[in-house]
Amino acid sequence: MISTAPCLLAIESSCDDTAAAVLCGLEVKSNVVSSQWMHTKYGGVVPELASRAHQTAIVEVVEKALQEADIKLYEIDGIVCTQGPGLLGSLLVGHSFAKSLSLALGIPFYNAHHMRAHILAHFLQTGPNHPGPSFPFLCLTASGGHTQLVVMRHPLEMEIIGETMDDAVGEAFDKAAKMLRLGYPGGPHIDRWAQGGRSDAFAFAKPKISGLQYSFSGLKTSILQVLTKEFGPSIEYPESLLPDLCASIQKALLDHLIEKVMKAMEETKLSTLAIAGGVSANSSLRSQLTEIAKEKGWSLFLPPMAFTMDNAAMIGADGYFQWLYGEASPLSSSAQARPEAS
Ligand code: KG4
Ligand code: ZN
Repeated sequence: MISTAPCLLAIESSCDDTAAAVLCGLEVKSNVVSSQWMHTKYGGVVPELASRAHQTAIVEVVEKALQEADIKLYEIDGIVCTQGPGLLGSLLVGHSFAKSLSLALGIPFYNAHHMRAHILAHFLQTGPNHPGPSFPFLCLTASGGHTQLVVMRHPLEMEIIGETMDDAVGEAFDKAAKMLRLGYPGGPHIDRWAQGGRSDAFAFAKPKISGLQYSFSGLKTSILQVLTKEFGPSIEYPESLLPDLCASIQKALLDHLIEKVMKAMEETKLSTLAIAGGVSANSSLRSQLTEIAKEKGWSLFLPPMAFTMDNAAMIGADGYFQWLYGEASPLSSSAQARPEAS
């Protein structure tokens, strides 16, 4: 085993982004993402199209990551790739490619957990003095496929203390945006249009779910009911109302998200909070949590925007901690749509 921090090639292909990065230790040398825009017209990811697009893009994306890092393939010490969770067909493309490369180069291979990697992105060195959150801390991980409250006591151990019972919050953002014909992914559109809108202009049914669990499917139905009641079955709304609509939808989704974060912080008595995943890019979520953290005296960690949506640098961080505390994965391991949490 190498004693100095390794230079890892990281690959991510769990959904609709083909991504590769090179990290030496936790220092990001390159971070290349190729997003598949062909899903936009369908209002969601089409799995069959996604896996084919990964096949087309992967060689070029990896070559670009090596080039931007100014590193040769033979100088790479190990390869880390997302094992899951994600779309199986998409995962298999990156995973098979990464295993083949590690076999050909005779270097260790590491399986990364996509949701853990979102959290570990907080430890990427983005400046000279960026130690990341101290353990233990609570992380709200909110993406297109997951909404989880996770206690992190160690970089490789996730204790999920709450999660959604149905839709993920990112999915709810995407579906609401689809109803308003705003394009995919919908979260950034709603976020942008909500600025300047009145968040109390439209009211939706509040989710009723106990404990630290989330539920967004009832809220999604309520949004559809309100929109069809106000604007008819084809939801022909005047564009002047778009800011109010987006601000109201965003408030309903974020209120539910934040309420459980506060409950979890109270119950766990933790004082460090982080957020991760695509939805952590949301400007209102970031500003509301900043205010709350100030009031409560919590240390709050918001990921840099480049590491909120899917990327391979975060997969590299997962690989780094496995190199530090764990062991290499067997080449007989396979991609998994739903791997174990830790
Ligand atoms: O983590 P991510 O890139 O992919 C998954 O692992 O799912 O998250 C994508 C999700 C999408 O649902 C997208 O609409 C949402 O993150 N998202 C946002 C924002 N930016 C991305 N949701 C709300 N506000 C945003 N600014
Ligand atoms: Zn993700």
